[in-house]
Amino acid sequence: MNKDFLFFHKPFISEEEVNEIVDTVRSGWLSMGPKTIRFEEAFNSYIGCKKSIAVSSWTAAGHLTLEAYGIRPGDEVIVPTMTFPATAEIVCYFAAKPVIVDVDEDTLNISLKEIERAITPKTKAIIPVHYGGQPCDMDEIHDIANKHNIKVIEDAAHSLPATYKGKKVGTISDVTCFSFYATKTLSTGEGGMICTNDEEIAERCSIMRLHGINRDAWKRYTESGSWYYEVVAPGYKYNFTDLQASLGLPQLKKVDLMWQSRRDIAARYTQALKDNEFLTLHTVKGDRESSWHLFPIRLKLERLKINRAQLIDEMRKLNIGAGVHFMPVHQHVYYTQTYKLDDKDYPVASSVFPKLVSLPIYPGMKEEHVDRVINVLVDLLTKYKK
Ligand SMILES: Cc1ncc(COP(=O)(O)O)c(C=O)c1O
Repeated sequence: MNKDFLFFHKPFISEEEVNEIVDTVRSGWLSMGPKTIRFEEAFNSYIGCKKSIAVSSWTAAGHLTLEAYGIRPGDEVIVPTMTFPATAEIVCYFAAKPVIVDVDEDTLNISLKEIERAITPKTKAIIPVHYGGQPCDMDEIHDIANKHNIKVIEDAAHSLPATYKGKKVGTISDVTCFSFYATKTLSTGEGGMICTNDEEIAERCSIMRLHGINRDAWKRYTESGSWYYEVVAPGYKYNFTDLQASLGLPQLKKVDLMWQSRRDIAARYTQALKDNEFLTLHTVKGDRESSWHLFPIRLKLERLKINRAQLIDEMRKLNIGAGVHFMPVHQHVYYTQTYKLDDKDYPVASSVFPKLVSLPIYPGMKEEHVDRVINVLVDLLTKYKK
């Protein structure tokens, strides 16, 4: 491995996580157990919602939430095209239809106008995605949802922590789902959390995450548990584990510190790149705070002799990892073919996507790393200008 290579992402793991993992392994309790419960409680009080249910991924969290809301074949759920396909795929699990809509030019968050246009009598829910960590226009989304009696499930895979008009993401809608995947702002390798203020949804999700076994299924092998259990519905194997919680508990303690670090990196990038003639930055709205999970830039391709793929390749040769978030869902072959989708109905996502590059942004990056990214990028853009 090339030690000078700056990875696109590296989780921020310290001795605390290592010690906690060792402690769990030595304890002999490897699956869901007391540390998972502690993690849920700590997460719940950090976010400030009524219930937090830890699960195996965001995808599991979203699936369980739609199940709890009773989504059925033929129902429709509105999702933005600028997301990871999981946001749409969970709708397909029910033979329901993901209605994929375009995003706003300035933030790449779901377009209010497109939500309104997509609503039909079959619409049951909207899943707004806080792209890169910046919250969507939640007040307006709730106004639309309330008017049509539609549920709002926030895809907060990118937005721990983030705030909207002073409220923490996780407290705004009835259900918010987080991801703890390896590249996310709090990482347990894989993992997710359902945050809700609705007791019934919480109850259903916690039963269904572990085979549909009624209450405290995980306790059946403990001293206080009972061997007897009842399955009340055919559930899923979506539980979190104490091994994952061993990463989650120490990570949660430093979640604000990690955020501060990403904010500093974002500010340094912004200062250095805001006037660059070969790219533009995303709009940051004043009434909300991003988690800064991503730092996306948009290339002015008309001013360059290379395309996005070539630029990322050149950056890689100069030891800088970069990413792309995301190929719009409507362009993935399954969705294009199944729902007969066309770029012309997604003018914003289709035109912005070829220009998008995500720069590295994570707490382990030192100022000299950030400056190295800036210098390499600026030099390449100058080298390949038209
Ligand atoms: C916006 C968004 N939603 C959902 C997911 C799925 O998360 P998970 O991998 O935890 O299932 C991701 C993961 O990359 C994501 O970026």
